[in-house]
Amino acid sequence: MTSTEPRLSTDEIADLETIACTIAREAGDLIVDERPDHLGVAATKSTETDVVTIMDKRSEELLRTRLEAARPGDGLLGEEGASKPSTTGVTWVVDPIDGTVNYLYQLPAYAVSVAACVGDVHTEGAWRPVAGAVLNPVTDELFHAGLGSGAFLDHAGRSSAIRVTAQGDLAMSLLATGFGYDVDKRKRQAALAAELIGRVRDIRRAGSAALDLCSVAAGRLDGYYEAGLNPWDLAAGWLIVTEAGGLVQGQAGGAPTSDLVVAGGTEHVAKLAPLVDR
Ligand code: IPD
Repeated sequence: MTSTEPRLSTDEIADLETIACTIAREAGDLIVDERPDHLGVAATKSTETDVVTIMDKRSEELLRTRLEAARPGDGLLGEEGASKPSTTGVTWVVDPIDGTVNYLYQLPAYAVSVAACVGDVHTEGAWRPVAGAVLNPVTDELFHAGLGSGAFLDHAGRSSAIRVTAQGDLAMSLLATGFGYDVDKRKRQAALAAELIGRVRDIRRAGSAALDLCSVAAGRLDGYYEAGLNPWDLAAGWLIVTEAGGLVQGQAGGAPTSDLVVAGGTEHVAKLAPLVDR
């Protein structure tokens, strides 16, 4: 912890986790219930993009308003441009819709991601999450964690502790990854995935980094890696994996950054990281 980070008690962290869960649910309801009827892949491209952007912005505005009311001194960093400095040392990092393309196509793998973080969220490697929630509003699965108190999946009226797998054999591992929006970068990412696919059980590309990380935390995947993530794709899922007993790291074993995120059980990450750290 750096000297600028606040000392947060267990109760304070639990409060931050509760806020993350509550507002993720509210934003999840918004993006599902108020999705415009005409939003779909049959619409013109510019319209699709515009309408998705509108729902992204509406979701982020809801998150911003709720956080301002609950924690007026906290900072904010959001995918759609929300930005506010912190006077408390806590900054919320939010993704109003992670898996935007899935949302457009109505593939049920998108999420609202909300994380309370400490440190400097504008500097790679200089911040970390202390509480967070990721909600898939279609499956109604809420993943959440608070620093030091474990990771949980709330679904169908039950809250269950979740745990990463103990898989240490890469050849038996089910991995996920993602591809960025830039075409040249996607080609490089696909080339790496093509190299890896012969060495692992299989590779999934679900389309939401936040949900990929939660799947690792819940033992539905053995590992995940991706280059090019933004803090809002990563923040809540990072904590959920580590509180589920896993490891999330970046290049050379450092903090995860936009250069690299590798997640999984400790043994798994030790084997996967050297293959994807380039
Ligand atoms: C994207 C998703 C995707 C990942 C991309 C992200 P967005 O976030 O998380 O799975 O591969 O790198 O940009 O744009 O849907 O919020």
